[in-house]
Amino acid sequence: MSVQLDCSYLDSFISAEDCKQIQAEIKKAHDYLYDNKVNARGNDFHGWLTLPFDYDKEEFARIQSAAAKIRSDSDILVVIGIGGSYLGARAVIEFVKSKNYNLVREAGDPQIFFVGNSISPAELSQVYALCREKDFSVNVISKSGTTTEPAIAFRIFRALLEERYGVEGAAGRIYATTDKAKGTLRSLADREGYETFVVPDDVGGRYSVLTAVGLLPIAAAGIDIEELMAGAAQSAETYTDPDIEKNDCYKYAALRNILYRKGKMVEMMVSYEPDYLMMNEWFKQLFGESEGKENKGIFPASAIYSTDLHSLGQYVQEGSRLLFETVVVFDKTKNDIVIAEDPENLDGLNFLAGKTMSFVNRKAFEGTVLAHTDGGVPNMILRLADMSARSAGELIYFLEKACAISGYVLGVNPFDQPGVEMYKKNMFALLGKPGYEALSAELAERLNK
Ligand code: PA5
Repeated sequence: MSVQLDCSYLDSFISAEDCKQIQAEIKKAHDYLYDNKVNARGNDFHGWLTLPFDYDKEEFARIQSAAAKIRSDSDILVVIGIGGSYLGARAVIEFVKSKNYNLVREAGDPQIFFVGNSISPAELSQVYALCREKDFSVNVISKSGTTTEPAIAFRIFRALLEERYGVEGAAGRIYATTDKAKGTLRSLADREGYETFVVPDDVGGRYSVLTAVGLLPIAAAGIDIEELMAGAAQSAETYTDPDIEKNDCYKYAALRNILYRKGKMVEMMVSYEPDYLMMNEWFKQLFGESEGKENKGIFPASAIYSTDLHSLGQYVQEGSRLLFETVVVFDKTKNDIVIAEDPENLDGLNFLAGKTMSFVNRKAFEGTVLAHTDGGVPNMILRLADMSARSAGELIYFLEKACAISGYVLGVNPFDQPGVEMYKKNMFALLGKPGYEALSAELAERLNK
């Protein structure tokens, strides 16, 4: 089984006619992905489509060896990267292992810290302090090899590695994942002799978790990356039919566009498992950066229930009717706890005695779906077998493909991110980077008004 879409709660929001009408647009989006004669926007970034089968096997073996080396010589792995160069790895590690991975990791698993995904000195110095006392390695990840946030972090951690292990020793502990030929990181890695891994040209950052970008940190965490790839391959084989009635992935893409056209501007990705939190963050980046352009796009939001039923729940139930929810549920939880009988029953909970927490969690889900649907919030359900590496692979590929199809149906290029450049230009100008003098003067005047 791969990911299954349950749309049985959508009846009062979407008609069979709505689905029939969007089918031709889905077929067109499918052709954008598969028909080489169609010159689709972004078609030089379709490499992720075949990645689960068509990956570099020699590099895959090197990833496994590098992960084994990190596990044998490092207490800590520092993963430096931002956006698509970190979210996927962290999402899979927390999904499969735990959001408390660093606390509950098993013997042989290194602690893994993600830095260079902000410019916060507080966050960086905390990890820096931990690395002063432990053996550590660094995996620096940047497709462009020029992104400021990871570049600053790498400068700092490279200096610490060189201070601790010498220049040569440091080089043996640095793994660089970047472009095969271009960028500052590539030049530095080649000059210093770091082991390098490649982000393929035709795979964009947010679609890169199944390349070395995600695979090396995931393997270092002790997760079976062959299983992850097998799960992705399973989805790649399953979701190929352009007919939405035979393809849950395309149907999900179709339904979100239908809902968007009916005024549902925000999608809340919801899970009842806190270990899903970073998968939500990965989903938000994937869909937000792919669809949010040309003044269009569903705003991707997220929640963990029942936690957020005590914060966002009120809004979802009764606030502006601009939301729909996509709820991810699992047939099997990682582990379970049976609620014991208490002879005194002071808390009045004996009606739950003998029941498992996963049973109670499921009832919370069922009750919430009905309540939110009654409140005017369309709900779609994505069902997965469990939270294994295989299921992570299935889900990742399902969402990547749904995102590509959905973006094409929306009428945008799902593989570029022109809007991200704006803040960078301003930041460089304000920092006095050479070449930005004119903009620098203009911005200084605006800020001083
Ligand atoms: O999806 C994307 O392309 C972006 O989010 C990038 O992953 C992010 O900006 C980091 O870029 P880079 O890997 O070039 O440092």
